[in-house]
Amino acid sequence: MSYKEKIDIDRIPNHVAIIMDGNGRWAAERGLERTEGHRAGVAAVRKTVEAAVKLGIKYITLYTFSTENWKRPASEIKALMQLLMDNIGDKIFMDNNVRLRVIGDMSRLPLPVAIAVKALISKTENNKGTCVVLALSYSSRQEITQMVKDIALKVKSGLIAADDITEDLISRNLSTNFMPDPELLIRTSGEQRISNYLLWQISYSELYFTPVFWPDFNEEELCHAIYDFQNRERRFGKTSKQIAENK
Ligand code: IPE
Ligand code: IPE
Ligand code: MG
Repeated sequence: MSYKEKIDIDRIPNHVAIIMDGNGRWAAERGLERTEGHRAGVAAVRKTVEAAVKLGIKYITLYTFSTENWKRPASEIKALMQLLMDNIGDKIFMDNNVRLRVIGDMSRLPLPVAIAVKALISKTENNKGTCVVLALSYSSRQEITQMVKDIALKVKSGLIAADDITEDLISRNLSTNFMPDPELLIRTSGEQRISNYLLWQISYSELYFTPVFWPDFNEEELCHAIYDFQNRERRFGKTSKQIAENK
């Protein structure tokens, strides 16, 4: 039986975050340029988004380009930005009622890319289906630093008191404030690290690592991750007995 058939459709996570890793190694295995790996990675994004729509996942956050990725060779960055540019108008959004959001420092993106991305965000803002969130030029520590600055200014100006700072207030001052925290975080390519992704938001996420390189990820791999997630016991600090007794 496939994982697609095995999963419980009534217990699909609301928010799945993915670290899409392994494009370069996928290409190297085939004697191809890294860019070809990224191109194949775009196809995997399309398949994964379509699968998320079918499964009724409300939010899918895709780590597309990290702040640290600006350190890559200029030619690779250029190719990645071009791929983004070529695919951002994709009809997949309007055809599937998909909304686009972005987290990260868009001011660092080349202007035409930023303009195209912003246009699609506006065009899709009333779509009510799955929300695809691209983490673009994103760094979680940077996001947290910005949040601390914003809250410090509010305290300084007397808008709030230091005592008003709660976990909820912190969440509301992060760029992810429009969605719940991810229940499931998937990383492909066998690496078992977080790489500066959603550090605050994943404090109780289930982590799923797969050796599959991102270009080979698809609906069945997503269902595999969800199946694994559905068979874990999320205890949130309680005992197994308390969870069983719903206390
Ligand atoms: C992920 O694949 C894509 C980006 C980080 C933009 P990589 O390019 O990191 O692929 P590997 O890790 O070198 O195989
Ligand atoms: C993380 O992948 C960022 C994205 C997937 C966009 P990297 O391949 O850049 O991560 P590290 O640097 O190897 O941890
Ligand atoms: Mg990588």
